[in-house]
Amino acid sequence: MTDAFKIGIAGLGTVGTGVIKILTQNADIIAARAGRPIEIMAVSARSKNKDRGVDLSNYDWVDDAGDMAARDDLDCVVELIGGSEGLAADLVRGALNGKKHVVTANKALVAHHGYELAEIAEGNGVSLNYEAAVAGGIPVIKAMREGLAANKFSAVYGILNGTCNYILTEMRETGRDFADVLKDAQEAGYAEADPTFDVEGVDAAHKLCILSSIAFGVKPDFEALTVSGISRINATDITFASEFGYRIKLLGVAQEVDGEILQVVEPCVVPIGSPLGAIEDVYNAVYVDGNFVETPLLTGKGAGEGPTASSVVADIIDLARGISLPTFGVPVSQLKDLSPLDAGACKGSYYLRLNVLDQPGVLAEVSAILRDHNISVEGMSQHGRDPDQPVPIVLTTHEAIHADMVKAAELIEALDFCVETPCLMVVRDI
Ligand SMILES: NC(=O)c1ccc[n+]([C@@H]2O[C@H](COP(=O)([O-])OP(=O)(O)OC[C@H]3O[C@@H](n4cnc5c(N)ncnc54)[C@H](OP(=O)(O)O)[C@@H]3O)[C@@H](O)[C@H]2O)c1
Repeated sequence: MTDAFKIGIAGLGTVGTGVIKILTQNADIIAARAGRPIEIMAVSARSKNKDRGVDLSNYDWVDDAGDMAARDDLDCVVELIGGSEGLAADLVRGALNGKKHVVTANKALVAHHGYELAEIAEGNGVSLNYEAAVAGGIPVIKAMREGLAANKFSAVYGILNGTCNYILTEMRETGRDFADVLKDAQEAGYAEADPTFDVEGVDAAHKLCILSSIAFGVKPDFEALTVSGISRINATDITFASEFGYRIKLLGVAQEVDGEILQVVEPCVVPIGSPLGAIEDVYNAVYVDGNFVETPLLTGKGAGEGPTASSVVADIIDLARGISLPTFGVPVSQLKDLSPLDAGACKGSYYLRLNVLDQPGVLAEVSAILRDHNISVEGMSQHGRDPDQPVPIVLTTHEAIHADMVKAAELIEALDFCVETPCLMVVRDI
């Protein structure tokens, strides 16, 4: 067996301690697969004295994680601190410039600075691996960069945030509202104390940005994404969606049409029996449209200590083996600038929920607005009748142009009897 592959681990939280556990417990099998042992030389976190449930006594403690970049006893720095700026970004830049491989689980960093980091890695003859950054334990980066490399991709769809999928599943199963379920999820540790990145779709958007880059050979462009989350979905929407045969899912969708790319993260309705409609609870799924493989579905746990650390260690094993790939599947010089597709011009069927005062003429006025925007109604449902209370009405439409749907929803909202911003979701048949 050849020399050990020497690593430093910066960040000893959920993922960092998970990596140490796997490297310790599975040391023999990992050494056999990597062709040499993996040796942890140094570790770093904020607090040296915290009990992390793992034995750190054999590793050098580094007070300032940034110093790992300059250590000459490391082949690879494993960045598990998080955040797109500051220490994590400086450490990764420094390590790559210092000709060390980097493994990270940091989707925010890769989404915002991936192109720059890929250039630095390539210029220094080292790799930036980030399997754990997208869909945790599901090897989706490996699948797209390697297993499906023969294909031209036309679309990637994903349920990319386990917290949102858990909340939506729980809302449906218990009939409770968003805020209520979120509070429980936070108490149970499924959601962060500050859940904004998860529930407003930002976390899923970071992941979609990375997948889109690999799928279409473009520079990651986070600013080109349209992002909305699930905080406006209420129990009524969940009930109506079920009544129409749908589940509500926070979907990331990246599609290429004639060289232009749509990147959107938004709540959508999908048929109950469809591949993505069946993904429940904390599970993630990625559905890829490749021209020779059709649509393989990858699913599994998208977060948590074990699944995420498993992907980090797989990246380390590849590097120890000498397997090195361009960061986004092709050399940086071949990555194109992303040309965004105008979402307004896209066509689809829609779910539109209104909350309106129950008075004569409401449907006539709504229908007139829809007619004026070339929108034809496929189905309609109203729950309850109460002259003193607003009532929800849901309409589903035949295919319409997105910009027309948005305009119609705005005009309906401006009507006197409409008491709440309408909830508009596209139907995705996937
Ligand atoms: N958790 C998951 O399921 C999951 C899934 C996929 C990807 N990720 C990504 O993996 C990365 C790590 O996530 P995590 O859940 O393990 O986070 P975490 O539990 O919050 O751990 C973060 C670690 O970074 C350390 N740290 C924070 N600021 C630091 C500083 N200024 N100097 C040195 N160390 C610092 C912390 O030190 P202390 O422990 O001393 O405070 C802690 O050990 C993130 O990029 C995250 O997005 C996580």
